This record gives sequence, structure tokens and C-alpha cells, in this order.
Amino acid sequence: MKILMTSSEAVPFAKTGGLADAVSALSIALAKLGHEVKIVIPRYYHIDREPFTKLEGAMGVPMGSGIEEWCAVYKTEMPGSPAKNPVEIFFIDHEIFFGRDGIYGTPVEPDFIDNPRRFAFFSRSVFQLCYKIHWYPEVFHSHDWPTSLVPVYLKYALRYGPFEKSVSILTIHNLGYQGIYHKDNFNYTGLGWNVFYEGGFEDWNMMNMLKAGIYSADKLNTVSQSYCEETKTQAQGFRLDGALLSRNIDYRGILNGVDTTIWNPQKDKYIPKNYSAADLSGKAEAKRELQKAFDLPNNPDIPLIGMITRLAGQKGVGELFGPAYGSAYSICHDMKLNFVILGTGESWCENELRKLSSDLSNFKAIIGYSEKLSHLIEAGSDFFLMPSRYEPCGLNQMYSLLYGTPPIVRRTGGLADTVKNYNETTGEGTGFMFDDLTPQAIYNTIGWTVWAYYNRPKQINEMRKRGMKSDFSWDASAKKYLEMYKDAGLQLR
Ligand code: ADP
Ligand code: GLC
Repeated sequence: MKILMTSSEAVPFAKTGGLADAVSALSIALAKLGHEVKIVIPRYYHIDREPFTKLEGAMGVPMGSGIEEWCAVYKTEMPGSPAKNPVEIFFIDHEIFFGRDGIYGTPVEPDFIDNPRRFAFFSRSVFQLCYKIHWYPEVFHSHDWPTSLVPVYLKYALRYGPFEKSVSILTIHNLGYQGIYHKDNFNYTGLGWNVFYEGGFEDWNMMNMLKAGIYSADKLNTVSQSYCEETKTQAQGFRLDGALLSRNIDYRGILNGVDTTIWNPQKDKYIPKNYSAADLSGKAEAKRELQKAFDLPNNPDIPLIGMITRLAGQKGVGELFGPAYGSAYSICHDMKLNFVILGTGESWCENELRKLSSDLSNFKAIIGYSEKLSHLIEAGSDFFLMPSRYEPCGLNQMYSLLYGTPPIVRRTGGLADTVKNYNETTGEGTGFMFDDLTPQAIYNTIGWTVWAYYNRPKQINEMRKRGMKSDFSWDASAKKYLEMYKDAGLQLR
């Protein structure tokens, strides 16, 4: 099959979260199964064009009100793709939209004012790219609101000629971000105003880009089975539960995988010594190194709890770090443990982390983004904390399991689908779970974990090894995506 992945992020070129990992790893997994996969992303300012090949000639993209946007296109081979069937990645280079710092925004302007136009343009440009390279995919696979207009353009404007038999897929990685903007931006899309209503853009008189994608894509999915069900409820549907329910037969959950060429304690190049379930000595060494990196005294016997996260409400940081009500202070004050966290995000939270680091000797935060440290935290921690409010899939709990670091998670979305709760009678389970998102529940569950660490060391050791045997290969997920592509094709014919 010919598949074009259209995305706003893809590792190693542009990443703000798990979306970037998922897009690249899925593309490579599909190529390994023999399919012809190309990826297209915007060429953000931080991406160095130097090593890329520039396609000859400029590319014109017709937008609304007779505007023609002229851009350049670059391409390169995706690192890590199979040598016999490499994945090509294309970059749409348009100075006025992407020639600036930031992917969606900057700390001073978190959501660029022209984002609806930036990503409408990008979504429209992918079709021009196909014309330019004379390559016409059977599947347009878009991800989240930034490319959710790809299915809309296909359905309402372009399903003829070389695209007559093309289908569109929309993967929802996070329903919390929908791309809702003033409807004045709609003219720029070049679509007729009938599409504003019929195509599902209209949302309380605003323009909702994700909702339009949900209306238009031939098939939809999200990144775990549980989250798929949750999004169809009023409580977790972010006001799109109705739209998703109306597409129920076309909507499914497919769990993300893990790229084990990057996340594998046996091969990890960022940790001091590689290790496996048969010999965990490398893990003890990683703990030592992690304590050093976070300026904690070296002590192999105190449980070390790690966290790597975007500091956003989705991740439960309010209940943990919220001034005056979060439980992190009491947890570290009352329990014999060490706590390390790596993250960036909302400034109130960054400030709170700095404050906790100075108030408590066993709490250490590094505000920043570091690939290397994130590997060290996965390997060197005894437990990994993820108290998410909601979690479409979540990658870090899967990494933790593979690194022998039992996760402590809230039972929601992908966390519920990948972690099995500890049973202290039988010793079964791969992690520790709780249901209510309250500061108290987090406190209690960490208390339970620390108790088990000191009092049930054998069971915990078995738990580590059990988790390390988990199978989160992308191969299995890629096959499920292929099924969905085929179902979409059958529907069209
Ligand atoms: P989300 O996409 O909602 O943030 P995921 O668990 O799917 O959550 O993916 C998060 C990804 O981003 C993981 O690969 C994680 O290691 C990485 N990550 C998040 N924050 C940081 C950070 N400060 N430094 C390094 N990696 C980070
Ligand atoms: C989103 C979700 C996360 C998921 C990731 C990749 O960022 O928040 O749960 O793992 O996308 O699909």
C-alpha cells in the first residue's frame, strides 16, 4: 500500500510529545511490513535544511480568497527505516508560517495567532506535494487537529483524478487539543461555507478543526481501547462525545507500540551499563548515576520514584504539585523515599517544582527537556509515577515496564490497558494503580508502593522482571492500522 503520513511532529525532527514518537515508529513499522510510506511535516525553523535534498522549483498551494502560497519542499530519508524500503520524509518550507521559533507557539505566545492558517495551509499543501512528486497514496493518514483538515480537503475538494480512490484516516492522540479558532479564519481554507456546517467545523459559532476531521475521515481511531470508550462519554469526551458517537462504527482503539531500537535496556546508549531481566546489576548502576545527576546522596536502599512529563493538567500535576493542595510535599515529607522529576510546561508548576526542590532534601526537579536524562530516569528509578487525569495511550509507562521500573498509575485510558495492578496476596501484577484523581489517592498509592518496596522485596523483584517481558511491539499495532486502511478502502468502493 502507498501511505502518506501527514503530521505536525515526527521524531527526530520535531517533537513536543508522544505524537512525534508514534508517527515515526508507525511509519517505520509499516515500511518493514513492505508498504510504501512517506511522511510530510512542516519545516520548522529549528530543523536544519542543510543535509536535505531540495526539490526543484517552488510549489504553489491554492488557498481561499485567491491566495496562492509559494513554498519550497525538502526531503530526506527517515533515520531508522529499513534499508531495502526506506521511508522518505518531506518538509514543507514556508517562511511566513514556519520561519520562526516554536512548533505551535512560544512561552510568550503559547498558541500562535495564525495557527488555523498555518495548519490549514499545511493540510492543503500535502495534496500539492503529491502532484509535485507524481505519487498518489491510497491512504492519507493524519494525526490530531493540525492535520485534521486533510480528510476534509479530500472529501470536499479533491477526491477526483489521482485521488479518486484515496481514503483518509484520522488518529486522535489527544482530544484535549482541538484547534478551535474564530470562524473568520475559515475563508482562508478555501472551502465553501456549506462545508463549515455540513463538514462539522461549526462549534458554538467558532471553527473547530478536529471536529471537522472527525466528520470527514473515512475511518478514525485513538491510541488505546479504553480511551476510545472514554472519549464517547460526556465526562471524557471534551464536548466531542456526540460527534464521536455518531461515527461509532468507524471509530476504534489501537494501542501504540514502543520503538525498541531506542527504548531497550539491553541496548540503550544513554545508560551507564546495559541490563536485562536475567541480570539487573546495570539497573543498580543506573540508580547510582541518577542519584548523582539529581544531586541526591548515593543510597541503593531508599526507593527512588521518577517522573518525566509535560507539566500540564492532563498529567495530574495539579493534584501532585498544586500550591496548598497537592500531595507531593506530604509524600516526600512523610515517607522514606527520593523523588526526581524532569519536565517543562505551565509556569506555575515549574515554579512550584523549584520551591519543593529547595524545601525538601529528598525532592529534586530538573526543569528542562533532556533525551539522555529521560532514559536515565526510566532505568535508574525504582518506580515511575504517572497520575494522569486522562491518558490516550501514554508511552512512559510502557518504557518503565520494559526497564523494570513498575509504574504507579491512575486507572485511565492507555494506562488501564497496559498496567496490571499489584495483588499483595498473590504477588501478581506489573504496577500500582488507583482510581480517584485526588491528592489523597496519590499519597496512599505511593505509600502502598513504598510499603511493598520495604516489606515485599521478592514480590517487587518478580514484578520488575514480569514487566520487562511485556510485548509492546509496533509490528502488532501496524497490522491493526493496515486492517483499518483496508476497511476504509472497502467502504469507499
Ligand atoms: P504526551 O504525548 O501526552 O506528553 P506520552 O507519554 O505519550 O505523553 O509521551 C511523552 C514523550 O515525551 C515520552 O517519550 C517522554 O519521554 C517525552 N518527554 C516528555 N517530557 C520530557 C522531558 N522533559 N524531557 C525528555 N523527554 C520528555
Ligand atoms: C498524546 C497523548 C499520549 C499518547 C501520545 C501518542 O500526546 O497524550 O497519551 O501516548 O499522544 O499517541
